[in-house]
Amino acid sequence: MSNIFKLGFILGLMALFIACGNSTNSDDVVNVYTHRHYKADDELFSKFTEDTGIKVNIVNASADELIQRLEAEGEDSNADVLITVDAGRLYRAQSKDLLQPIQSKVLDANIGSQFREKEGYWYAMTYRARVIVYAKNRVNPADIQTYEELADSKWKNKIVIRSSENVYNQSLLASIILADGEDKAKKWAEGVVANMARNPKGSDRDQVKAVASGEGDIAVVNTYYIGLMLHDENVEERKAGESVGIIFPNQSGRGTHINISGVGVTKHAPNRDNAIKLIEFLSEKEAQQTLANLNYEYPVNAEATKSSILQAWGDFKADNVELYKLGEYNSKAVKIFDEAGWK
Ligand code: FE2
Repeated sequence: MSNIFKLGFILGLMALFIACGNSTNSDDVVNVYTHRHYKADDELFSKFTEDTGIKVNIVNASADELIQRLEAEGEDSNADVLITVDAGRLYRAQSKDLLQPIQSKVLDANIGSQFREKEGYWYAMTYRARVIVYAKNRVNPADIQTYEELADSKWKNKIVIRSSENVYNQSLLASIILADGEDKAKKWAEGVVANMARNPKGSDRDQVKAVASGEGDIAVVNTYYIGLMLHDENVEERKAGESVGIIFPNQSGRGTHINISGVGVTKHAPNRDNAIKLIEFLSEKEAQQTLANLNYEYPVNAEATKSSILQAWGDFKADNVELYKLGEYNSKAVKIFDEAGWK
């Protein structure tokens, strides 16, 4: 064979290989980049495969890592779906032109308009409140009713809270900037740093455990972690969960800060139709009920009911700031945390 011939033969084989690869891809799989780290998701993806025959491939990493990866991969990315645990990172992915808008009557019917991006770039799967928890045996809940009060010097050496690198705290501070302005938000961050019982470390669960062990009296955590701890098979986790009370802050003002876990279709999704099917599946009553029951999140589909523990906590007033704004103010929040010395 001449060299030209050999080259043609190899190129032909490659084309055949790529074509086969593509046809398998577009029929049977959906590739998911996800920051979520909860067991309920595995159950839902298995159920989706059972119902549709579409295999779900998972890449698990932080949203920042996944966004970097999507940028690096560009048009060659295999990713179809991006799932994050906050609106800020979905906003960032959208701003970097990594998502595409989709239209879906199913999604419009299942998800309230406050829980979806107006052009269809992303949709909430669930929402969660970032609440204040307190040591039931040491704190009178009437003494702390707002986020702003966390900065009051009466809580000196009493507050345990995680790092400012954590996106949940970044979005909380973004909401405080939006409510109170940058100057007050900075003073607030400085006040909280001055009240910390220890340097920020660990997860939301670790903050609850630190309150249980007496290292601090007050912590700030996402609601579902309390639900997960109260139902954990480990007795230490359960005891820690039981030792704290919950306050939905700012009920007589703007309401409690909420955030979403959400999902969007990637810009170059090779399996776009499957991606939309998966997002629709996650928005249906049954999947929403699984997320509510197994992960103690608030469903965004009004037909699903809250888990019994969330029902026991009662209804609360949520801060209704538009969720994309948490993303817009993320870099300001990070800067304020830095200036305030919040590690
Ligand atoms: Fe989480």
